[in-house]
Amino acid sequence: DWTPGNVIAEQVEAIRAQVGDKRVICGLSGGVDSSVAAALVQRAVGDQLTCVFVDHGLLRSGEAEQVEQDFVAATGVNLVVVDAQERFLEALAGVTDPETKRKIIGREFIRVFEQAARDVVTAAGAHGEEVEFLVQGTLYPDVVESGGGEGAANIKSHHNVGGLPEDLQFSLIEPLRTLFKDEVRAVGLELGVPEAIVWRQPFPGPGLGIRIIGEVTRERLDTLRAADAIAREELTLAGLDREIWQCPVVLLADVRSVGVQGDGRTYGHPVVLRPVSSEDAMTADWTRLPYDVLARISTRVTNEVADVNRVTLDVTSKPPGTIEWE
Ligand code: XMP
Repeated sequence: DWTPGNVIAEQVEAIRAQVGDKRVICGLSGGVDSSVAAALVQRAVGDQLTCVFVDHGLLRSGEAEQVEQDFVAATGVNLVVVDAQERFLEALAGVTDPETKRKIIGREFIRVFEQAARDVVTAAGAHGEEVEFLVQGTLYPDVVESGGGEGAANIKSHHNVGGLPEDLQFSLIEPLRTLFKDEVRAVGLELGVPEAIVWRQPFPGPGLGIRIIGEVTRERLDTLRAADAIAREELTLAGLDREIWQCPVVLLADVRSVGVQGDGRTYGHPVVLRPVSSEDAMTADWTRLPYDVLARISTRVTNEVADVNRVTLDVTSKPPGTIEWE
């Protein structure tokens, strides 16, 4: 009988058998998969697990807090937070090419995670303990895809934890390897993972860094975060979260257009709403959002977000467009 409870019981037993008295490390991204995997391992081995969250400053409004506060409160995991915002901004300074941005973010992420992992290993060693395992939130479709697939998934370089140096190799624990996304969500809910995380829509590893067309700066991130938060809030209020696959908000930071507000002329940036419907992100159609929802988002974003004076809608399917703009 497939029930979340049975999956948890089975996995808890398997993880305990695999781990013994060794220590385990897990990178949290704020997404569903790593969160549920971590919660499951926490259920199995408790304090033997240390989670690492690299705050690269490219997350959306409230997402770092969701991990640092809500997830920790709900699961009781040991969490190490690395505030790497400054470092990522420095590494991205002056960079506008999409693939270069992705490579830099991926590279910095691995470096920061590697240092944090080393620190965990060292701290454990000081107590005569050994960190032998790394948790990965690999799902069944990932297993299948990496078995043979090429194609759309490889058009852009996707970054996930991997690529650690040889002297820092761990054995993998992949407790979600046999599960599909909806099953992972059911397991997460059963484990008490906060709903905002369990139902989080897909969000790319490089985060808002690839939703600013142009150079990534702190000010631009703040601008995009504010616009994105409004769009998400209105979509949620309209009850559309489960209907749309995701709705990237993109800041055209190198474009300005003339507007008028009050008695003043403005010269601000446009944002693009990119609502898409999809089954698996390999193909997608643009979502026909209700006009009144679009109107509310537009009015609020242009009123509440300084520097944004125009809201536009992307009506391109995938292919030929990709979901993300970079
Ligand atoms: P594209 O833009 O290729 O996106 O149509 C397909 C799906 O993948 C997400 N995406 C990523 N996810 N790391 C991720 O974990 C990445 O680097 C990345 N790039 C895109 C995107 O949000 C969409 O759901």
